[in-house]
Amino acid sequence: MDRRPLRLITYGLYIASIGGDSGVSAAVINWLTQASFEPPLLVIALKKGSTINQLFREKRYMTINIVPSGDLDMVKAFFGELKVEDGRVNGYSFRPSERSGGFILDDSVGYIDVEYVDVYEAGDHDIFIARYVGGGLHKEDVKPLVIWDTPWYYGG
Ligand SMILES: Cc1cc2nc3c(=O)[nH]c(=O)nc-3n(C[C@H](O)[C@H](O)[C@H](O)COP(=O)(O)O)c2cc1C
Repeated sequence: MDRRPLRLITYGLYIASIGGDSGVSAAVINWLTQASFEPPLLVIALKKGSTINQLFREKRYMTINIVPSGDLDMVKAFFGELKVEDGRVNGYSFRPSERSGGFILDDSVGYIDVEYVDVYEAGDHDIFIARYVGGGLHKEDVKPLVIWDTPWYYGG
């Protein structure tokens, strides 16, 4: 089966985070889309057994940071372990989300807070339905980073 067409789906890149009992966790994700206007729902696929998947089930809220166009460094900064120091997470200033306990990066284009609604377990990623419960914009004139403008892919 030719799976190359799956690689042609256009994605944004996001940094998701949740505050857990032993500190904050984060993951770079791209499998995310809006899927209803009323109520505003999102579909988010999270790798089975990953920390972010487990935390979303437990804590019920997640904060999703939208990476600015051209800012590959922001994505790279969140590939590894998290280090919170002097009001910065992996070098980026932030404020905590009251809902999720995750971080809202000051340099993101904006952020989305979601609340768990349901999960569908069918493949190697669990498919979460989540409700948009709040968010905001930091940079009205900046576009978000899309996967085509990076050397990475996650799909296919
Ligand atoms: C470009 C890119 C996109 C990714 N997109 C997703 C995604 O949509 N969902 C997901 O669960 N993991 C995604 N990942 C992987 C996560 O960043 C992370 O490695 C994974 O959740 C494993 O976490 P763990 O260390 O807790 O097991 C992506 C990774 C990269 C490099």
